[in-house]
Amino acid sequence: MAEATRTSSVNFFLDGNFAPIPEERDASNMTVTGKIPDDLSGHFLRIGPNPVHIFSEEAYHTFDGDGMIHAIEFSHGSASYRNRFVQTEGFKLEQARGDWVYKGMKSMMDPTPSRIPEGAPSSKNLANTAFAYHNKTLYALHEPSQPTIVSLPGLETLGTTDFKGKLTHPFTAHPKVDQQTGEMMVFGYSFAPPFVSYSVINSDGELVHTTPVTIPKPVFMHDFAVTGKYSLFLDFPITLDIERAMAGGPAIDFDEAHGARIGVMPRYGTDADVRWFDVKAGVVVHTANAWDEGDEVVLQASRSKTADIIGAGTNAGDALPDTQGQLYEWRINLVSGEVSERGLSELHCDFTRVNDTFACHKTRFVYGGVFNPTRPFTFDGVMKHDSELDSDETYYYGPNRHGGEAVFAPRVGATEEDAGYLITFVHDEATDQSECVIIDAQNVSAGPVATIVMPFRVPYGFHAGWVPAA
Ligand SMILES: [Fe+2]
Repeated sequence: MAEATRTSSVNFFLDGNFAPIPEERDASNMTVTGKIPDDLSGHFLRIGPNPVHIFSEEAYHTFDGDGMIHAIEFSHGSASYRNRFVQTEGFKLEQARGDWVYKGMKSMMDPTPSRIPEGAPSSKNLANTAFAYHNKTLYALHEPSQPTIVSLPGLETLGTTDFKGKLTHPFTAHPKVDQQTGEMMVFGYSFAPPFVSYSVINSDGELVHTTPVTIPKPVFMHDFAVTGKYSLFLDFPITLDIERAMAGGPAIDFDEAHGARIGVMPRYGTDADVRWFDVKAGVVVHTANAWDEGDEVVLQASRSKTADIIGAGTNAGDALPDTQGQLYEWRINLVSGEVSERGLSELHCDFTRVNDTFACHKTRFVYGGVFNPTRPFTFDGVMKHDSELDSDETYYYGPNRHGGEAVFAPRVGATEEDAGYLITFVHDEATDQSECVIIDAQNVSAGPVATIVMPFRVPYGFHAGWVPAA
């Protein structure tokens, strides 16, 4: 049984299993129901916000929490667990002071004097959002910031990198690695020009290409997509609008009138090479995958009607299902210039993933977390969408049980796209018990082949990752 859960009456994201934990711990010989597969070998990683020193519980935003990594190493049918904070500069400053230094995104205008020491970064690199694994290097990512290198298996923070001074822009939490070429493509968005920048890092880890990508107005651009030939930019209408803010509205908000466009640029293209294609206005937080197919570029993503980024879905009166994505596909014909788009599934989902071995190339299957219809940031199950059969398969965790992002871990030596496992943390809110569940991706509806009973509570978090054994 996990320890008693801290509760906050004033903030959903500090309550129940969203509440942070203070400890860094290790565990092995954990209780397992079923059998951990022998052909599962590597590190399952999950990162998320785990705040230590909070300026204001009321104004705390879930994007503000210090990054904490929970990792399970699988080898020969056994599992061991470790969790560690990402020791960012801001985290260490607050540890040294024993109190908050940074106020957080919703308290920027609070008149309380700043505690940021001279020479320290003006904002926190939280390293709390997602992972990239490239050139045998694990990065913990935070989209306004530089990537933070973390060791495996120890989860020690080795510091940030600017790729020998060549990284000149923010680094998305969702870079794309093309495992066929070994290249990593990355973009960053900014609220000052250039609003979008893009870089390619080669298989040796060297940043070899950078270009600005011009869009008319700053937008919240959390993810992008990459095919074998092209990189795709989503100029979708969650805009930053100072005039709207001056008039008393939100600075960042969904603005349907802005329209939506997908920019298609060759992998080593420049700003002048980008071709923009108008699509229906909507919101994409996460893409699943993209690929080239004949004259077409195909993009699959979770798409919602609207979004509530600042409220993170907690504002009163929100139509929650309208902010929850559904799988969607765009086909852009580069010869005719025509775009066709359609929904792929009725299920409300996000945290879309594919088998990363096939990323940037044609995939048949998308995996995603299935949303709870009434509570924000809450996943009731996992889904597998089959683009060939146009069908979905699901597994629901059960009453009062909620999961997170399920990552795909290929079986050792596998060649089939779906030969592998979906791994995620699940929390039973009735018993306050966390579990790690392992599901055969070729038989999702059968439920877990193994469930690890976690000796410690694992709070809900953001993204997961898989690093295969060397
Ligand atoms: Fe994300």
